[in-house]
Amino acid sequence: MSPGYLWSKPAQSKLLLRKYIEDTRAREKKSGMYDIILLALLSACSLTMISCVYNSEEDLAPPSMPCNTDGITYSGDILPILENRCFKCHADAIRLGNIVLEGYDNVKLLVDSGRLLGAVRQDPGFSPMPQNEGRLPQCDITIIADWINEGAPNN
Ligand code: HEC
Repeated sequence: MSPGYLWSKPAQSKLLLRKYIEDTRAREKKSGMYDIILLALLSACSLTMISCVYNSEEDLAPPSMPCNTDGITYSGDILPILENRCFKCHADAIRLGNIVLEGYDNVKLLVDSGRLLGAVRQDPGFSPMPQNEGRLPQCDITIIADWINEGAPNN
C-alpha cells in the first residue's frame, strides 16, 4: 500500500459523496421545477376558467344603465334632449342650416319628413347630428324613436 492510495481513498469517497449530493440536489431541483411549472399551469387554467365564468355572467347581465322608455312625453323627454344638444344651433334665433327645433310645430315638421330621426340616428343620406359632436347616447335615440312611433304627440 502506497501512502498515496491511503490519502487518495478518503479523498475519492469524499468526491463520490459530493457527486451523490450534487446529483440528489439536481434531481430535487428538477422535480421542484416541475412542481412550479405544474402549479403555474394549474393556476393559469383556473384563472382562465374563472374569467370565462365572469365573462359569461357579464354577457348575461343586463346593461348597467337600463333605458326607461315608459311614458315618454315631448315636454319631459324630447324637449330636454333638444335643449341640451340641439338648441345652440337650432334655436329659433340661430337656425343653422335653416333648421329650427324650437317649438313643437317646427319639430313635428322635421319628424314628419323623417329628417329628425334620420339625423340623430345618423342614417345614410342625412347630415349626422349633433353636428361635429358624438352621437346622442343610444338611450336618447331610442326615446326619440319610440316617441315618433307613438305619433310624436305634443304632451
Ligand atoms: C354645432 C351645430 C349643430 C348642432 C349642435 C346640431 N346641429 Fe343639426 N344641423 C347643423 C347644421 C349646420 C345643419 C345644416 C347643414 C347640414 O345639413 O349638414 C344641420 C342640419 C340638421 C338637420 C337636417 C339634416 C338633413 O339631413 O336633412 C336636422 C334634422 C338637424 N340638424 C337636427 C339636429 C338635432 C336633432 C340636433 C341635436 C341632437 C342637432 N341638429 C344639433 C348644425 C348643428
